[in-house]
Amino acid sequence: MSKALNDFRLKLGGKEYVPIVVGGMGVDISTAELALETARLGGIGHISDAMVPTVTDRRFETKFVQEKQKKYKFNIGNQDKSVVQFDLNRLAEAQRLHVGRTMDAKEGDGAVFVNCMEKLTMNNPRDTLQVRLAAAMDAGIEGITLSAGLHLGSMELMKDHPRFHDVLLGIIVSSGRALRPFLKRAAKFNRMPDYIVVEGPLAGGHLGFGLDDWQEYDLKNIVQDVLELLKTNNLDIPVIPAGGVFTGTDAVEFLESGSSAVQVATRFTVTQECGLPDKTKQHYFDASEEDIIVNTISPTGYPMRMLKQSPGIDAGIRPNCEAFGYILDSKGHCQYVEAYNRELEKNPEKISVLDKTCLCTHFRKFNIWTCGHYTYRLKDTTHKYKNGKYQILRAEEVFQDYQFSKDHTVKLPEQSQSV
Ligand SMILES: Cc1cc2nc3c(=O)[nH]c(=O)nc-3n(C[C@H](O)[C@H](O)[C@H](O)COP(=O)(O)O)c2cc1C
Repeated sequence: MSKALNDFRLKLGGKEYVPIVVGGMGVDISTAELALETARLGGIGHISDAMVPTVTDRRFETKFVQEKQKKYKFNIGNQDKSVVQFDLNRLAEAQRLHVGRTMDAKEGDGAVFVNCMEKLTMNNPRDTLQVRLAAAMDAGIEGITLSAGLHLGSMELMKDHPRFHDVLLGIIVSSGRALRPFLKRAAKFNRMPDYIVVEGPLAGGHLGFGLDDWQEYDLKNIVQDVLELLKTNNLDIPVIPAGGVFTGTDAVEFLESGSSAVQVATRFTVTQECGLPDKTKQHYFDASEEDIIVNTISPTGYPMRMLKQSPGIDAGIRPNCEAFGYILDSKGHCQYVEAYNRELEKNPEKISVLDKTCLCTHFRKFNIWTCGHYTYRLKDTTHKYKNGKYQILRAEEVFQDYQFSKDHTVKLPEQSQSV
């Protein structure tokens, strides 16, 4: 008899979950609504703390961005952005609001975690990350998924927090090689991760592979490497594959070969609960395989997968570090700022920046349409209206399709009357 994902459970921190983790999708693409719905259904949902002051401004009408922009207005014309610092108290306030209000609304047997990217260096990598981690724990988050970086210093940043041993901690890696140094550091603090997400080359967002070699990797092989590494070290830590798990049966295959759950995201980008504008969701449905590209326009230095129609590609806008500034490194540098200044010197009349994008501004506006490799299959998961548009799904429909479907089938949603 073929199995469904519902025949398995993820055991984590003394609790059992439906083994479906909806991955973090920054800047508010994986909204609190999506994470809460996932938790209600018994799985694990993620909010993301990417650009959290911006997100709280939108959710709760706070004025964090305006305040920062006003303070640093004098610097807008300056090429040097090192002076533009985040106020750590305000950052903590924003994180506590975002996380705390989400946790207050939580119902059901699942859990809500936060995705915390190290690459958001925020002109002060150590202190801003410490504040984000501490404030998330203060506000009652159940788990923290460390992502976009090796996080070799993150255990140290958390070790004195009263919840260091009770919050669930996980890390996203794309190889056993990347996991090894993290485990070494974790052992020093007597705090092994509670779960490990292994993200392969077909995922959405930033990739832990090179622009030219991502095609050479296969998630199944990387997962086996990680499982072996853990076994050799006598470590019993749940492994959660991510990237290209499109059907419940894809997930079952992983669970039958030693994994404990799967992390998925792309199929939820076209749900009502997802933060992308409805118009953008239609672009995701419409995408063909050729539309989905991997490029290096992200100033983080990581390759990123996106739709080639993303309006944020080739847009030479003035950097917005005074309002945002999330990618600025410890010296106040961002690859986009450098690319922009280079073009400004070449031709101040008509600035076009092809090699990099202002990630903060464009993510804030949902203008970089990052997505997983299988986005072109989303159209097969719903109904098409007579006017050419697709029926947007409910997160519950996608979640339950993963949970109960068999034999690589995808159950279409209940047809809305207007189809
Ligand atoms: C729109 C989108 C945004 C994403 N943003 C992030 C992010 O901010 N941080 C992160 O660690 N992963 C991010 N990811 C990766 C997902 O959390 C997840 O691990 C991966 O996409 C799963 O593969 P799938 O999309 O093929 O299901 C993103 C994925 C998508 C589709």
